[in-house]
Amino acid sequence: MLTYDVVIVGGGGAGMRAALEAARDKSLQVAVFSKTYPTRSHTGAAQGGINGAFAFKDPTDSIEKHFKDTVKGSDFLGDQNAIDFFVNECPECILELERMGVPFSRDEFGRIAQRPFGGASSPRTCYSADKTGHVILHTLYEQCLKHGVKFYNEWFLLELVVDKGRFQGLIVQNMHDGCIHPVNTKSVVIATGGFGRIYWNRTTNALNMTGDGTAACFNAGIPLKDPEFVQFHPTGLAGTGILMSEASRGEGGYLINKNGERFMSRYAPEKMELGPRDLVSRAIETEIREGRGVGGNGNFYVLLDLRHLGKKKILERLPQIRELAIDFENLDPIEHPIPIRPSCHYMMGGIHVSDHTTCSTPVPGIHAAGECACVSIHGANRLGGNSLADVIVFGKAAGKGACLSAKELSSGAEPILLKRTAYWEEKFRTMREKGHGLKVAEVRDRLAATMWNNVGIFRTEKEMEKALSEVEELLQEYNSCYIGDSSTKYNSAFIQYVETGNLLNLAKAVALAAIARKESRGCHARDDYPTRDDANFLKHSTVTKIGDEYKLSYIPVTITKYQPEERRY
Ligand code: FUM
Repeated sequence: MLTYDVVIVGGGGAGMRAALEAARDKSLQVAVFSKTYPTRSHTGAAQGGINGAFAFKDPTDSIEKHFKDTVKGSDFLGDQNAIDFFVNECPECILELERMGVPFSRDEFGRIAQRPFGGASSPRTCYSADKTGHVILHTLYEQCLKHGVKFYNEWFLLELVVDKGRFQGLIVQNMHDGCIHPVNTKSVVIATGGFGRIYWNRTTNALNMTGDGTAACFNAGIPLKDPEFVQFHPTGLAGTGILMSEASRGEGGYLINKNGERFMSRYAPEKMELGPRDLVSRAIETEIREGRGVGGNGNFYVLLDLRHLGKKKILERLPQIRELAIDFENLDPIEHPIPIRPSCHYMMGGIHVSDHTTCSTPVPGIHAAGECACVSIHGANRLGGNSLADVIVFGKAAGKGACLSAKELSSGAEPILLKRTAYWEEKFRTMREKGHGLKVAEVRDRLAATMWNNVGIFRTEKEMEKALSEVEELLQEYNSCYIGDSSTKYNSAFIQYVETGNLLNLAKAVALAAIARKESRGCHARDDYPTRDDANFLKHSTVTKIGDEYKLSYIPVTITKYQPEERRY
């Protein structure tokens, strides 16, 4: 049986940062299981930068301002003790990356360059052109290899085994040969990213962002916290949802409607295009709803105009944006504005982390970091540039926490791991042999359609109830799915089948918590309850799965320095 002290599931920024931290303790055996090659992980899509209050670009910036911006950005739902820890850790964690070799862009004094980002009161987003996540991934991978971390690439998480509240280990599939393995480990860090694929192609997320670790925790009885808070990034490409980084607006890009008007002056007169994402996304959708969108035949969008930045700046600061616009919209932003529309980007909610200093969950030995986790520092709306920072700060904390757990806990019980392995082997066999049924892709597409149409940027009770009942129907129909692939090697149809089951479970939790939150806060904007209701909803939702039942409850928000007030930008 594969046996380790610390296992990390997920080879993105949070997973590799956790692995690196754990691997510094040479007394522990550490391994990473990742369903993609680590350098292809979705952290690469966090293009625009990482926040740290160095005050290089603006000497008036401070840790306190970063704190305040993050609290305000979260619409006061972020836990202020965790945000305090986070903003204080960011600068050192970024300098650690710099020492590891991350090639940050530089200012005229040779310091790390910083740019403005949405919802920030000073330019504090450190960047490497518009490929910041990509270069961080590559550097972390090199460092992990240097420190002897063992990688299992293209191995897929099937289950976290928890028995009577005690973590036992995990069940994984080697995608290369289809073999299913138990992994005995004392502690685990789940770092599998978000699940934006509940919105299928109206998302900036890669195909594989299906919340496998989040679903595994949820199935194991760990609550999901605040799942209703889904971030729509304002600038996804109109055709594909692919991200046009906020860096494009940070560098001075405009948003214009069909009348050529910079409409953000109506919604965020001070911050304009650099308002927080929830506000800018709603502004774009409002322009479209009110008939000022560009396009036609049901396909409306607005324009991201970079032309005034000039060729030199675009090539130097936004080369990837340009490449993506050319490849996917067939236009060069040096000469043409880019058609964009909001696109599901990030899950503020996720696996309930109960201690932000170790990223531990309520089950001893199970830790979570990065987008899959809800610490919660982002509350109801995350600020751009706080995601990479979250990944690095809490990846490190989770790595440390998992080491502590590994020293306190013993290994899992082999009989139960073998029993669960046998269950999944049987499942894999029967699915390969099943000759007919419903296509997995059909379930997936119907899920995405109902989520986009009914649990999108603007929400109402009636539409969300419709989505919930459709997701419940789909959960039933999922049982009759077949995969149409009998092979053992690289059976990606089986992986997609499991992923779709994960998406269905998570989408149901999103809809359930969203219906119950009868207010508008951050990205959760309800037409039927248009204002924030602190008296009744200044609290985190938690959804717990007990068998097939979903139980909704609430826990308090930690408020230390800043009492809720109206957000103005
Ligand atoms: O727009 C962006 O570059 C995305 C960054 C983020 O989500 O933090």
